[in-house]
Amino acid sequence: MSASIDRYAVIGDPVAHSMSPRVHALFAAQMAQELTYERILAGVDAFDAVAGEFFQQGGRGLNVTLPCKFAACRWVDELEPAAAAAGSVNTIVPFSQQPGDAVRFRGHNTDGPGLLGDLTRNLAEPLAGRRLLLLGAGGAVNGVVRQLAGQAPQELVIANRTAARAQTLAAALRTEFPRLQIRGCSLTDLPESFDLVINGTSAGLAGQVPAISAKVVTGALCYDMVYGAETAFCRWALAAGARSVSDGLGMLVEQAALAFTLWTGKVPLTPPVIAELRTGS
Ligand code: ATR
Repeated sequence: MSASIDRYAVIGDPVAHSMSPRVHALFAAQMAQELTYERILAGVDAFDAVAGEFFQQGGRGLNVTLPCKFAACRWVDELEPAAAAAGSVNTIVPFSQQPGDAVRFRGHNTDGPGLLGDLTRNLAEPLAGRRLLLLGAGGAVNGVVRQLAGQAPQELVIANRTAARAQTLAAALRTEFPRLQIRGCSLTDLPESFDLVINGTSAGLAGQVPAISAKVVTGALCYDMVYGAETAFCRWALAAGARSVSDGLGMLVEQAALAFTLWTGKVPLTPPVIAELRTGS
């Protein structure tokens, strides 16, 4: 590999399934940017050493996936506000204050803006004044919920299998967004009719769907933060009467585009990349 080619990577465990190398290769081709983008297998215990070595060898930027997003938060020197609020980093950007100064590292979280970009631009789904339901209260939901709350929905409900986790998250959000109506509850304690239902649980990894009533999703746009030709949640939601469904491929591409811009200063066009991945998958 030529030393002059910019080197990027995604780090996590598992990482073999990651589509990020393909997404960044498509951005690079579109922007005539020469780069390499690899997958690095590392868990939480190895994260600090592996990330340090990657940048020591000249790496220009890292994406971070599960289970390392919290380890990355501790490892960086600075956090941008969205990453600090979520306690989670998915993009690391090296920088120096002045030429010749020591390299420092800033942690970003592009998941929230990536989801928002997919919903509002690609799917033309406004959030202001709408009734919004988030399923799950783990890392995936924590990483995006503040971005969604910032759009001033009429109501934000967080429902989780373990109700206490949803209630704790909702209570924290109420102090951050005092004007919003925010509620945390169990999956079985949900009112009917939402405009938008976002699945941020990991139930789909086991081929399962969060146990909510079909009435909850009737007439809603149902969005699965996981990507895949037809996720279990999307299939279930369509049969349950959802207005439309979407998997998280657009979110993946949008969050990657934001990382690409942070690293290179260039803004790739996302719709052709989403279309290419849909037809090529
Ligand atoms: P992640 O970082 O992927 O969000 P996590 O922090 O372990 O992972 O959270 C997983 C989320 O999926 C949790 O909200 C979990 O619910 P619990 O808090 O009750 O564990 C939810 N989840 C996992 N499997 C589920 C299932 N089969 N049905 C409903 N929710 C599920």
